[in-house]
Amino acid sequence: MSQTSEFLSSPQPRARWMRFDTAQLLKRFFFCERSLLVSEAAWIPAVAPLDIKTGLARFIWQSAETADALRNRVFELRFPSRLLEEQGADHALIELFGAVKDSPSVPAFLLSIGRVLLPALRDSFQAYLAASDVIADGPTHRFLSLALAEKAEQISAFEQWGESALASTPESRDSALAWTQAIAKRLADVGGVGIGPSSSTAVSGSLPEARAYAIPDRPARDPRFWPCRFYWPDVVDPAYPDGEGMQLQLRSAISHLNEVWAIENGGVMLSAFADVLPWEWIHNSARWTYDESRHCRMGYERLMAWGLNPAEIPLGTYIYEGASGEDPIYRLGMLYFFETKNIRHKPARAQLFHAYGDAVSEHDMDFDWADETMHAGYGKHWLKELLAVRGQDPAAYDQIRERCEKLVSDFVSAATPDEVAAIKKTASTLIGKARKM
Ligand SMILES: [Fe+2]
Ligand SMILES: [Fe+2]
Repeated sequence: MSQTSEFLSSPQPRARWMRFDTAQLLKRFFFCERSLLVSEAAWIPAVAPLDIKTGLARFIWQSAETADALRNRVFELRFPSRLLEEQGADHALIELFGAVKDSPSVPAFLLSIGRVLLPALRDSFQAYLAASDVIADGPTHRFLSLALAEKAEQISAFEQWGESALASTPESRDSALAWTQAIAKRLADVGGVGIGPSSSTAVSGSLPEARAYAIPDRPARDPRFWPCRFYWPDVVDPAYPDGEGMQLQLRSAISHLNEVWAIENGGVMLSAFADVLPWEWIHNSARWTYDESRHCRMGYERLMAWGLNPAEIPLGTYIYEGASGEDPIYRLGMLYFFETKNIRHKPARAQLFHAYGDAVSEHDMDFDWADETMHAGYGKHWLKELLAVRGQDPAAYDQIRERCEKLVSDFVSAATPDEVAAIKKTASTLIGKARKM
């Protein structure tokens, strides 16, 4: 160089992105994670295997935590907060992350996320961590490194789920692969996620083979279990004893397992109100859905550890179905109704299990109680918020709860004598098996 400058400068890559560029990229990642998790939540009722339902709930929570950290970081960077409400030039990209909600089948949904959207996010996070300044942008590095590790786990789970879904429905293979290719092509057309400037491409419109999403009226059930609507005799027969000792241990584990309905309702309501309520709704309901998946797993693990056979364990649908065809506010209402109805029994149950020397039932019930206390707060808060957003009286949240109680009791009263006889027989077989152990 023949000319010398009167200023100091050095060829350091640290200054590659200024504060504003950084915030633009993090905002893009926020909207991608947000859109992806809303799509995932909506599909929880439609997938049958229990491990996919609980796995999706966990991944939704991970995405919500990442999105929340991204959002806070964008605020820290003094990005005009008004702009965080807008997708801006990334609109077509974000729309694509939402488009997988209209996947034509379960395998198509799993493959398009596992093979296209998640790898795109993983690669972008990796590129971001490599190119950004670890000094100026240190706070992002901490949470984005965790998000990158979680993406690797999510991808391998989705790959495995997609393969097993294809194996169980081979007739959907061609359409699932075509859908996955269409998502990949659209992603390329809109410029990918990446770390470059927004492509501003106005590619949008529905994808061929898209099927407009509708909340399933009936939830898919894992075929390993004994399928039913009402999962224990006391649901349909108030005279049936709660039991004590071993019968109570069994009943409690079955209840925990059957909280699968709460995972499904959680996913449906998260997605239904994602664009109506503020971000904190998605953040709270993702956690809520994940917590219910932990309660479900607690029951499953206890039943398996006792050596019981899934084919003899009832897995019901009545609480989910009780709100089918209704305004989705009743899915939120159902969670609130059951949280507040059962919570007072939990400490006493935990004490009984302690007295039986059943440490794991005690442990699970005690942790469950702590979660449910938090959920009762979520329920009341968000029912009121939702009513307010709709221009209704927030104080009417209790009427939603009451109607939920009625919906459940109406559904239960439609139990057929055959169903009642069948669940009694199944329960007594299970109790008999447990006694012999
Ligand atoms: Fe729960
Ligand atoms: Fe709960």
